[in-house]
Amino acid sequence: MKLEVSDAPVAGERLEELTPRQIVAELDRYVIGQTQAKRAVAIALRNRWRRQQLRPELAEEILPKNILMIGPTGVGKTEIARRLAKLAHSPFLKIEASKFTEVGYVGRDVESMVRDLVELAVIMVREEKRQAVRAAAEKQAEERLLQLLLPAPPTPTMSSTGEVEKPDFESTREKFRRKLQAGELDDRMVEIEVDETGSPSFEMFTPQGVEEVGINIKDMMPGLFGRRTTQKMKVGNAREILIQQEAEKLIDRQQLSREARNRVEQDGIIFLDEIDKVAGREGGQGPDVSREGVQRDLLPIVEGSTVATKYGPVKTDHVLFIAAGAFHVSKPSDLIPELQGRFPLRVELDALTEEDLVRILTEPRSALTRQYSALLSTENVDLSFTPGAIREIARMAVEVNSRTENIGARRLATLLERILDEVSFEAPDMGGISLEVDDEYVRHALQDIVQDQDLSRYVL
Ligand SMILES: Nc1ncnc2c1ncn2[C@@H]1O[C@H](COP(=O)(O)OP(=O)(O)OP(=O)(O)O)[C@@H](O)[C@H]1O
Ligand SMILES: [Mg+2]
Repeated sequence: MKLEVSDAPVAGERLEELTPRQIVAELDRYVIGQTQAKRAVAIALRNRWRRQQLRPELAEEILPKNILMIGPTGVGKTEIARRLAKLAHSPFLKIEASKFTEVGYVGRDVESMVRDLVELAVIMVREEKRQAVRAAAEKQAEERLLQLLLPAPPTPTMSSTGEVEKPDFESTREKFRRKLQAGELDDRMVEIEVDETGSPSFEMFTPQGVEEVGINIKDMMPGLFGRRTTQKMKVGNAREILIQQEAEKLIDRQQLSREARNRVEQDGIIFLDEIDKVAGREGGQGPDVSREGVQRDLLPIVEGSTVATKYGPVKTDHVLFIAAGAFHVSKPSDLIPELQGRFPLRVELDALTEEDLVRILTEPRSALTRQYSALLSTENVDLSFTPGAIREIARMAVEVNSRTENIGARRLATLLERILDEVSFEAPDMGGISLEVDDEYVRHALQDIVQDQDLSRYVL
């Protein structure tokens, strides 16, 4: 028996429902500066929502404006994507363009990103559907538990007197139900069928992507995957497993595939990181040839084509692509022209100033200084930084960046690691002290290295 599954989206704001201002505000909590890039991304997302409000004929015509983010290394390109992904209730895939190889070569072909995106959408939609059928699944799981704890008698038994003895089965059952609901039977043992987990997942590792190998092996060797075994366990543990199993039965797989495909087609976002790594044109040799091949393979997908997936064909016309790259060796103009044309919106990220670095060290919720304080608090060391120390670290980061290689905010990590080297090592033996790192401490920890250019090249 199938229950009706509601088509209504589960409550919770979808990314597209946020206004550009809200999206930027969200990103501001983690990424310092880079306003232009944040705005571009926010507008692109809002445009998809706008499009969906239009008549289908018109909406069909409006294609997404793909974005190319350009900026030096370590200034927040990937960080923007990472935070966006957490924000996004849309299927969002971040992948490095350098992972792909040209069709016909060993490696991942570019179409696999669309297949991966569909997998993500399936997980997402399935989770929503699970929530939607949760109540019904809980009910059915309860019935199954009752059945296990108190099997119904096969037929009424005849007593010696020849009367039909009618034990009040129903009322016993209801008594059990109440106990079950109160959790009083949670320690009883039951035997249930469970999917054998930890079955080998070749699919993860195949260069061709999930598809080919994934399904075929499953089809060929049905026994190997999803084998079920019976396991004894406590009612308390069995309950959740049974709820999951019942929920699975209530979800219509075809509808799930259809919705997931639709979600990808309408809302999907692909973040192509390190796009500069596949820049390079004809005339080159060796890797260049293959890079251009990857770009050629990317073209139809970015432009809009249909990709076969195991959940059915998916059109990529309205998928939003955001590409990013440092482009310090190559230039956007080293991409083949057709591909350049597919990324009409260009945004440049700024190099980070000392002021930015000060903020990066302190403001984001996951700022490095907070991370270290949290880590050391587990050792009973109360670590804090004075504003002077923060300023000094930022200043040194700028200095080292300018004298050696400019690696942006990543420099902060190497500096901090160095500054806290001693306390990180000694912490367990320090036994509950407070340590306030000030500018003097920072200078002292770094002086030898920062002054010696060769040394800082290696150590920092
Ligand atoms: N603007 C920023 N705000 C907050 N943190 C930042 C910022 N820029 C960089 N960071 C920090 O530096 C790290 C590296 O940044 P990110 O991965 O975004 O670099 P990138 O711009 O993608 O560089 P690459 O071109 O080398 O990939 C991040 O993990 C983040 O902690
Ligand atoms: Mg990056």
